[in-house]
Amino acid sequence: MLLGNYSREPLVFEKGRGSYLFDPSGVAYLDFLGGIAIHVLGHCHPGITHAIQKQAQRMVHVSNLYYNPAVVDLAELLVEKTFADKVFFSNSGTEAIEAAIKLARRYGASSGRYEMISMEGSFHGRTLGAMTLTGQAKVREGFGPLPPGFLYAPFNDFDKIRASRTANTVAVIVEPVQGEIGVIPAETDFLQKLRRWTQEEDILLILDEIQTGLGRTGTLFAYEQYEIVPDILVSSKALGGGLPLGALLTSERLSKFLPPGTHGSTFGGNPVACAAGAALVRALFAEDFLPERVRSMSSYLWDGLMALKNRYPSLIREIRGKGFMIGCVVSVSAKKIKDLFREERVLVNATGPADDVIRILPPLSITYDETDDFLSVAEKIFSSLPVEKS
Ligand SMILES: Cc1ncc(COP(=O)(O)O)c(C=O)c1O
Repeated sequence: MLLGNYSREPLVFEKGRGSYLFDPSGVAYLDFLGGIAIHVLGHCHPGITHAIQKQAQRMVHVSNLYYNPAVVDLAELLVEKTFADKVFFSNSGTEAIEAAIKLARRYGASSGRYEMISMEGSFHGRTLGAMTLTGQAKVREGFGPLPPGFLYAPFNDFDKIRASRTANTVAVIVEPVQGEIGVIPAETDFLQKLRRWTQEEDILLILDEIQTGLGRTGTLFAYEQYEIVPDILVSSKALGGGLPLGALLTSERLSKFLPPGTHGSTFGGNPVACAAGAALVRALFAEDFLPERVRSMSSYLWDGLMALKNRYPSLIREIRGKGFMIGCVVSVSAKKIKDLFREERVLVNATGPADDVIRILPPLSITYDETDDFLSVAEKIFSSLPVEKS
């Protein structure tokens, strides 16, 4: 019955609690993927579940013709915790990206500028606009003709980006850590140069923090660690505490380019999703996840992974990423290793252009014991592979 556009694993899950998912017979799997960077506080966090229940009993949907307290509450929280003055809510990351494309084009309209430069290897979503913005040919293949106005430049290469700029360039979009192509962080010097140059040239800097946001890299949003402020930030994934929600964050000045009638979404800013999102953001701070707990727990995991790399240098080429967004670059098939993890009831993901990166996205709430369990499964897998231990 389900259309075959996903390659699903041979697994069924019907319950989640904390760092674990359970199959119908109650077998537990340690979830180090979290619904692809959704569950930053694990499954069914009590505060988030309570917020969803409370809001669902009160009011599920009202439309954007009216205000509702839940949407205002989350917008206020995001404004308080970030650079932004204004928030637009969508239902997904892709939709928030579309909003950013539209805002950038409206911004450039008076000077005839509409072109956006995105990074090679980037991923921004699946609609026609977001897909065309995505810097991976395989994602766009077979969907032409694509909308004009999208250019690609090498990630982490400021000079090439500057050289690819034309008279029509209005915006540059970057992920602070490229997730889908294999967990590749932006270099600090690169992002800082890009920020200075875009500011000088009146080009908008858009950060796609759909995967890096909500504490995943160790701060609420990754831009804080780069000590830059974007013009537009796009969030989603973890934002809705497990419910579909996306957001575009921007300044008062730029928000004026999307006046009434220029953009919208029937469900965007749904009260239940916003209530869940507000509970999540509050829990991230109230429970001291940011930055202390994430810093200490993620360095414990990183230390374990680096030790593993040192023991199996011919199998593990690199550990990279930021905080709890980790890529383990391997010299054997990442898919095969992901399957071996699954057999040990641990969920990770295989990515990378050459099937060479294991993507590890644990909840920020993992314990030392869960981390140790993960590391001993990893040790078991790598020690079983046919390569000499150094
Ligand atoms: C960086 C980034 N941008 C955009 C998207 C698209 O978000 P969504 O799947 O919610 O539409 C994703 C999803 O993986 C992503 O990782």
